[in-house]
Amino acid sequence: MTKAALEMKRPVMQLPGLVRDPACGAGALLLPALREHLAASATIDPRLVLNRLPSVIEGIDSDPAAVWVANVVLAAEMLPTLARIPEAHRRPLPALAHVGDGLAPDRAPARAILMNPPYGRVRLSEADRARFAKSLYGHANLYGMFMAVGAESLDANGVLSALVPTSFTAGRYFEPLRVYLTSQLRLESVAFVADRSGVFTSVLQETCLATLTRRRVRKVAVRAIGSAVEEVATIASPTGGNPWILPRRSDLAPVAAAAAKLPNTLSSVGWKVSTGPLVWNRRKDDLFARPANGRHQIVWAADIDGGAVHRDVRRASTRYLALHSERDRHVMLLTTPVVLVQRTTAPEQTKRLVVAELTEEDLARVSGGVVVENHVNIIRPVGDEQMLSRRLLTRILSTPTLDKLVRCISGSVALSAYELESITLPDAETLKAWEMLSDEELERAVAPTYGLQEQPAK
Ligand SMILES: C[S@@+](CC[C@H](N)C(=O)[O-])C[C@H]1O[C@@H](n2cnc3c(N)ncnc32)[C@H](O)[C@@H]1O
Repeated sequence: MTKAALEMKRPVMQLPGLVRDPACGAGALLLPALREHLAASATIDPRLVLNRLPSVIEGIDSDPAAVWVANVVLAAEMLPTLARIPEAHRRPLPALAHVGDGLAPDRAPARAILMNPPYGRVRLSEADRARFAKSLYGHANLYGMFMAVGAESLDANGVLSALVPTSFTAGRYFEPLRVYLTSQLRLESVAFVADRSGVFTSVLQETCLATLTRRRVRKVAVRAIGSAVEEVATIASPTGGNPWILPRRSDLAPVAAAAAKLPNTLSSVGWKVSTGPLVWNRRKDDLFARPANGRHQIVWAADIDGGAVHRDVRRASTRYLALHSERDRHVMLLTTPVVLVQRTTAPEQTKRLVVAELTEEDLARVSGGVVVENHVNIIRPVGDEQMLSRRLLTRILSTPTLDKLVRCISGSVALSAYELESITLPDAETLKAWEMLSDEELERAVAPTYGLQEQPAK
């Protein structure tokens, strides 16, 4: 992918500039680049070739043992070139990897940065927080910082390729990073790692290979890597901080392309999303099977499948929460009708978007409101003016089309409040017209709005 982004069209070519891996480990990502460069240099004076290697390959790692191995591995690759030099003229081979901090500022500009950086949240010093202010919001994740530093250390024709979790494409904490990256680069290709068995043993997130370029490309090639590499789609390259809508499968490609062009989001039409406030394991002593004074009915994630709020029997022993103070009631109780959406679904569930309306009638059946637990997202109106009714919102989110859309925003089974808020919707006029439609007519209208073939009437 990096070679394609650098427009290196021939199968074996010399490197056009410095290729750096700022967290190189034992040099796995640098090795193919070095190998190809040396193969393409077979007719050039070998002394010159070896002397110049430090200007085309650089590895950095904070682990001295990894750097030692990297230097051995990379040097082994140079032996055939060394063998072309008469013995009397041979010099020690260059050490291309060195111990250092891959996040250090002001390194020489690189033509390509390749990396599989460390992942994980880190606590930052005041100085680092200030340094990374442009690309950070809330929790800092090491891999996002490596991407930000990578972007700023490229030369004018540079390419950044990273093997990283997909959370940077849609997560809330990565919004400034998306803005920062696309203010100077364009996503040129992305490959989702579809089959992770045997690839990563301890990483649970969805993972991708992302290549960003300084060239102002308009399109991004999307692929899926399973047992083979599958071409998924070519769609407009995303820009800006909103979650990037990227299809993971080719049948989702038209939805991603059409949805990215729609004018509204859930938040722009007057609805906002929050997560249910009850974290049950912090309130174990307050959970009860039977109602009583001061106890309120809980809505669990399992209560909202099947399209309506119900009482799942598996939750019978923890159906009520005892609330103790005015503040407790203020935080926990929901007393107005809303739309509820499961925050995570099990992989075996066919739908990723499991939605039910909490109606006036539902609330009338309980006294004083309900308590929503935190595996449920709550969509509620902001202010008095909404572009679409609660009923229509529920019905739109329940369509198979919108289920396809959320699969282009989150590649995992989880759907955060932030990601849900970014769901795109059509203009006010279309939404108004949809209010009148039956469920069946609605699905037939929704599908083509999101790029899918109109569903034939049943
Ligand atoms: C996931 S490994 C990747 C190794 C190599 N690129 C590969 O694919 O085999 C991440 C590497 O980052 C290194 N690392 C962690 N923090 C670092 C830092 N601040 N600067 C440089 N390297 C760092 C670790 O020592 C580890 O070798």
